[in-house]
Amino acid sequence: MDLSVKTTLAPTQRSACLVVGILDRRKLTATAGELDSTSNGYLSQILQQGDMDGKLGQTLLLHSVEKITAQRILLVGCGKEKELTIRQYQKAITAAVKSINEHNIGDAVFYLAELPIKDINHAHRIKLTAETIHHGCYQFDQLKSKKGKSKVSLIKAILNVGDKSQLPQARLAVSMGNAVALGVNTARDLGNLPGNICTPSYLASTAQKNAKRFPEMKVKVLKQKDMEELKMGALLSVAKGSRQPPRLIVMEYSGGKKDDRPIVLVGKGITFDSGGISIKPSAAMDEMKFDMCGAASVLGTMVTIGELKLPINVVGLVPSCENMPDGAANKPGDIVTSMSGQTIEVLNTDAEGRLILCDALTYSEQFKPKAVIDIATLTGACVVALGKHPCGLLSNDEVSTQDLLEAGNLSHDRAWQLPLWDEYQEQLKSNFADMANIGGPQAGTITAACFLSRFAEKLKWAHLDIAGVAWESGHNKGATGRPVPLLSQYIISRCGKKYQLK
Ligand code: BES
Ligand code: MN
Ligand code: ZN
Repeated sequence: MDLSVKTTLAPTQRSACLVVGILDRRKLTATAGELDSTSNGYLSQILQQGDMDGKLGQTLLLHSVEKITAQRILLVGCGKEKELTIRQYQKAITAAVKSINEHNIGDAVFYLAELPIKDINHAHRIKLTAETIHHGCYQFDQLKSKKGKSKVSLIKAILNVGDKSQLPQARLAVSMGNAVALGVNTARDLGNLPGNICTPSYLASTAQKNAKRFPEMKVKVLKQKDMEELKMGALLSVAKGSRQPPRLIVMEYSGGKKDDRPIVLVGKGITFDSGGISIKPSAAMDEMKFDMCGAASVLGTMVTIGELKLPINVVGLVPSCENMPDGAANKPGDIVTSMSGQTIEVLNTDAEGRLILCDALTYSEQFKPKAVIDIATLTGACVVALGKHPCGLLSNDEVSTQDLLEAGNLSHDRAWQLPLWDEYQEQLKSNFADMANIGGPQAGTITAACFLSRFAEKLKWAHLDIAGVAWESGHNKGATGRPVPLLSQYIISRCGKKYQLK
């Protein structure tokens, strides 16, 4: 979809649809007021009649309004002015986009960014508006055999910028919003693909294909033999139970100075997690195709970075395999030796994510990274602790923690910190190896991070547990593309003044 910014005059703007906000108790927003006076009070008349009162998420489509050039006006309920939060704003946009697509409208001009939303400046609001419109227009139908008409009609959207002096920042903001949306869509597509299509080799060839679009991006794919040479015994032990060969995907984006130390992003790429010999119950096991959403978020973020040609060095690492039960699979009690030399007793084969991530963390040391962030659908316990709103954040570095929390707030793709105290390390004690791969029933998200921290001692490292945020279950089952917005913002924030939205 084509999405851009422009300064327009609403009454005379040519368009299939003008999208304007109505606040609770029929209060007109600025542009709604303009359209109302040009049309001799038509909007207020409709509102007086009681067709709509401005409650959040309501929509009302008006056709051929007198003295208005555009074909339609879509009134969108934005709720109480005092409560205009980012969440409320996103709900209003989503309702508008849904209505536009239901009415088969092809182009629209949005006048919603003029709303006084709390805690976000104008340029960030434009960026978020772009991302939210793209999000609402996402569809995944590549595996449906009947190629009917697309349910998404909107192909061109313009965001109105009231004040011309704001246009340069708004242009930057919309280019960022578009690039983040491309990254999010990349991650959603990969996440939604089933395990029989999205295999470790599929992820690898997708990374290679994506990199062809960006001259600054180089991809290298390590195969089983390479990993054997590196002695990645933990990663390989998980891969043993599967007929799909494992991959370690290395994406290097060099937009910065030659010897700038890179940020390394490590994404868990379990393309299906059956649990292995510690097999999972069958209910909802299909959702374990989403166990590569960490990997997908890294591939997606690399696309965003490439699109924006950011002046920074970033390495994306994706350890990838399946976790399956098999005669050759890990058995409870098996002891494996990681690349770091530390030995691990595999007490539960379903705690496989940390086994592939630990070797990737050790591998990351060679890049002399400024910081390493791993992103993983690591624990069901994180969903219990935090639900689906923030991802869990655990880190051995205060600066990285603050940077990631701030990036989450700016992009409204938030993280929440959990403690990584030494006290919890005791839960990983093993009688037979250096450590166990599980830490018992208490504080599962924290003990998983404690396990990883033992492989990150030489690194400034942070871990994002995205088990609750990476996909939605139920009626709207599907990948969300999170935390691509957070990661992209984290990277943008370290690209210097020119890239900061004011
Ligand atoms: N991929 C799962 C985590 C998961 C489960 C995410 C359900 C989202 C929903 C991970 O590999 C796993 O199985 N973790 C175990 C760890 C346990 C064995 C210590 C879990 O969370 O149950
Ligand atoms: Mn598992
Ligand atoms: Zn898993």
